[in-house]
Amino acid sequence: MKQLITPFMCHIFVCTKSRNGEKKSCGDEGTPTIKALIKTEIKNRGWKGCVRVSDSGCLGLCAEGPNLVIYPQKIWLASVSPNDLPEIIRIVEEIVEPET
Ligand code: FES
Repeated sequence: MKQLITPFMCHIFVCTKSRNGEKKSCGDEGTPTIKALIKTEIKNRGWKGCVRVSDSGCLGLCAEGPNLVIYPQKIWLASVSPNDLPEIIRIVEEIVEPET
């Protein structure tokens, strides 16, 4: 094993767990689309090298979903929808470009 220091200023984990409608799950409530929108915005803003967006399995608070978390800042965003994209990007901007 090697212990590394993350090369990213933040890592966004979007829960994309799907239970195929059998039980509430983020992936059944649009998180793949939300993740794609975030990735596109990160790329368009030139943040690709410092912000990573990844799928996550169940984060454990399904009833609060759709969920995403931002680490290492310990930010948890619940009940997320595509309409929240501007606010999500604003939060990431505060991390990536804190003086602007
Ligand atoms: S399915 Fe997303 S937190 Fe459990």
